[in-house]
Amino acid sequence: MAATLHRLARTVGVALAVATCGISSLSVAAAATPPEQKIVGGERAKIADHPYTVFLTNNSGFQFCGGTIAAANKIVTAAHCVKGKTADSIKVVAGREDKQASDGTTAAVSKVWVHPQYTTATAGFDVAVLTLGSNLTQKAAPLASSADADLYKEGANSTVLGWGTTSSGGAASRYLLKVDVPVTSDATCKAAYSQYSNTSMVCAGLPEGGKDSCQGDSGGPMIGGGKLIGVVSWGEGCAAPKKPGVYARVAAYHDVLQEQIKS
Ligand code: ARG
Repeated sequence: MAATLHRLARTVGVALAVATCGISSLSVAAAATPPEQKIVGGERAKIADHPYTVFLTNNSGFQFCGGTIAAANKIVTAAHCVKGKTADSIKVVAGREDKQASDGTTAAVSKVWVHPQYTTATAGFDVAVLTLGSNLTQKAAPLASSADADLYKEGANSTVLGWGTTSSGGAASRYLLKVDVPVTSDATCKAAYSQYSNTSMVCAGLPEGGKDSCQGDSGGPMIGGGKLIGVVSWGEGCAAPKKPGVYARVAAYHDVLQEQIKS
């Protein structure tokens, strides 16, 4: 499968980071996408302005995904980031903008909850909740709910944050980056991706491309109206024209997430 994708990606000259959508797809993306397809026309962000933004590392300190503080000891991330991982193989880093710095807090994970219906990112349900062994002091982000339909309208502003790659297949960012991307209509996203589901996903990006999340940003926050409206999930390449980023639609999972966050 990976080899097939690899060959296909080479052939058509696009990165197909769709099926696994994790760091394991990096080799696929690396072979295929021209340099300078930047994550995205992003810029540096201050952690103090987005204190709910965290990154996930393995026990070697390697950053593999992002996440969002939803309560003092609860992190919302993508299912594809943590499925199959044990709690003791994941650390959550909060309050740190520069991955090479040592400020902020590194928290242990005591429980990994993955949406029970999750299979692959392109099939939806790409949400997970980590329970921490200790409480963080950084501010949490509220989850969007069914009352927040306005935040999902075409053209609504969203800000996506992460430490992911700054070129498709390239190196991850040392510093927290952010990019502002408009929410696309369901029709636009469906036209881009047959797998798009308007009940479990939301897309954002510009028709001409140039602004997007990318590999390693997965699990991280998509913020609209001050709420968590999406979780970085998947896309074809990064920032390509007519290929918006796809995010887990948080409002659709509000209740099931909130249940995990309260417990
Ligand atoms: N699946 C990627 C990850 O695991 C995120 C991809 C987002 N892609 C995009 N074009 N927005 O980090």
